[in-house]
Amino acid sequence: MPRIAVIPGDGIGREVLDEGIKVLAALDTVSGLDLHFEHLDYGAQRYLDTGVTITDQEMAALGSDHDAIYLGALGDPRVPSNVHAKDILLGMRFRLDLFINLRPVKLLDARYTPLKDKAPEDLRFTVFRENTEGLYTGVGGQFKRDTPDEIAIEAELNTRKGVERIVRAAFAFAHERGLDRVCMSDKSNAMRHGHDLWQRVFKQVASEYPAIAASHLYVDALCMEMVRAPEQFQVIVTNNLFGDIVTDLGAQLQGGIGLAASGNLHPGRVGMFEPVHGSAPNIVGQGIANPLAAILSAGMMVGYLGHPDLEDRIEQAVRACLVAGRVTPELGGDLTTSQVGDAVVAHLLHT
Ligand code: IPM
Ligand code: MN
Repeated sequence: MPRIAVIPGDGIGREVLDEGIKVLAALDTVSGLDLHFEHLDYGAQRYLDTGVTITDQEMAALGSDHDAIYLGALGDPRVPSNVHAKDILLGMRFRLDLFINLRPVKLLDARYTPLKDKAPEDLRFTVFRENTEGLYTGVGGQFKRDTPDEIAIEAELNTRKGVERIVRAAFAFAHERGLDRVCMSDKSNAMRHGHDLWQRVFKQVASEYPAIAASHLYVDALCMEMVRAPEQFQVIVTNNLFGDIVTDLGAQLQGGIGLAASGNLHPGRVGMFEPVHGSAPNIVGQGIANPLAAILSAGMMVGYLGHPDLEDRIEQAVRACLVAGRVTPELGGDLTTSQVGDAVVAHLLHT
């Protein structure tokens, strides 16, 4: 019985996760998955009520008592410092050591991409975003704050172990799926220390996979190529910040941020699954949030729990909704969040 920690979080997080759970519950009835959900209230409201973001004990329990974590979104205008998002979201990534942020970029229906003349087979790659170091660690400091001489330093942390394990994960993924291309992206022409390490590690690991073509693009060129000729990519591996940025670009190419799913992984440990989008406070409570990214993330979770056939089934149901135009307004449809969830369930149960 897989144990899932459900953290709706803030804003539209709850609205979209409700639909993901609805789909998982429907899947349960036909597959006998027998998922067990534990709902946790970590988020802005709890922080405002109690002053607690997440305790050490709660974080440890997330790692030890669950098989997967299903997260909505974190971010609330009432917490301008965003300290709770940092403690909870980045906390899970760092403290549970979920070093792979796996973000598929996949066009499910051609009409939703802003790219001209691109078909689903032209846009089908996976980004391996390093998830535990880089520019996200908070290493640095401020000096002479609020004076004209203020200095702020944000250091990029790159460890050989950290770079090597994400690069290895990307190659292993390509190898397991019979793919033959991995592209590493950095900015080693300007960042000569950390990204030189990426260069050397990438070459070393690539040499162990002679059947996989290893290529490199500076991140600015990668952005250009993702738009110009996305069909050239199968697997992209990059650092934490660049991965953050290029996956928002990827999200738009596949039809918008409302369709982008992700998994935060460390093989053999609890995995955390979340839509790439945020809490969207501007549309909370209107019933127009697109739940498909959350539903696809639920699919990734089921796949990670050992049921790739069911992951595929969820994806096919989402695809069917997109093809039929059974979508929320930002994609040109007229369904509510909950109606989209119902539509996915209907397709799921009738295929
Ligand atoms: C994401 C988000 C986060 C990130 C923010 C909320 C810190 O943009 O998951 O892509 O930058 O990783
Ligand atoms: Mn992001």
